[in-house]
Amino acid sequence: MSQVLIIGASRGIGLELARQCRAAGEQVVATARSDAGPAALEALGAKALRIDVADTASASGLAWQIDGYQFNAVWIVAGAYGPDHQGLQTPTEAEFDQVMHTNVLGPMRVLPQLLDALAPDARLALISSRMGAIGTRTHSYGWLYRASKAAANSVLKDASLQLQGRATCISFHPGWVRTDMGGPDADIDVQTSVAGMRGVLARATSADNGAFFDYLGQALAW
Ligand SMILES: NC(=O)c1ccc[n+]([C@@H]2O[C@H](COP(=O)([O-])OP(=O)(O)OC[C@H]3O[C@@H](n4cnc5c(N)ncnc54)[C@H](OP(=O)(O)O)[C@@H]3O)[C@@H](O)[C@H]2O)c1
Repeated sequence: MSQVLIIGASRGIGLELARQCRAAGEQVVATARSDAGPAALEALGAKALRIDVADTASASGLAWQIDGYQFNAVWIVAGAYGPDHQGLQTPTEAEFDQVMHTNVLGPMRVLPQLLDALAPDARLALISSRMGAIGTRTHSYGWLYRASKAAANSVLKDASLQLQGRATCISFHPGWVRTDMGGPDADIDVQTSVAGMRGVLARATSADNGAFFDYLGQALAW
């Protein structure tokens, strides 16, 4: 049975990943930080862990909790949008820390703890965003979130180089998705986004290591 780890699965894309992976018969270990999160995951038949990627002590407890697993797929999903800046407003330190600690420091805390828990030829997905792309950018709203996802893409790229030959690492734009973050006017539902990304990750080969894809498998420019 395939073993899957999902970081940030209490709601939205992460919870739907847990649901679809369980429906496919996969063994799922998934993390939440809220009191309600573990119950929703356990109801799906997943093993729930409590991890706050923005909290040093909590995040550092991942490795021992996944000791003995050999994950075929890992999804790092946890993310925060932060302030809805339309212009060049300076974020407060608290806003900066919340977004950067969740979206950048979080993956940098999680990734090193995975090294002994990856099955041969594992797939590793980081849910980034097209908003992190710099070369094709035509809007500037949400500049703190954009900066965080550009940095997250850099983190994924470096992980792909370190894990070359051991895992296929992909940065994903999940689409504009109707979740708490995406809002009700977003383009696609969460089922479509997750089904698309699961298919892309399943079909990925070692030649895709270090790629930036959308949920349909279209390659995106950094
Ligand atoms: N929705 C979109 O249109 C869209 C587009 C591009 C990229 N993305 C990315 O996709 C990912 C999932 O987004 P979503 O739409 O599912 O958002 P969401 O519905 O707001 O869910 C965010 C998830 O991240 C978790 N999380 C936030 N901070 C965390 C922390 N410090 N530690 C652990 N978990 C934490 C939340 O847990 P709690 O329930 O505990 O808060 C929740 O499970 C994010 O990385 C987001 O940036 C989304």
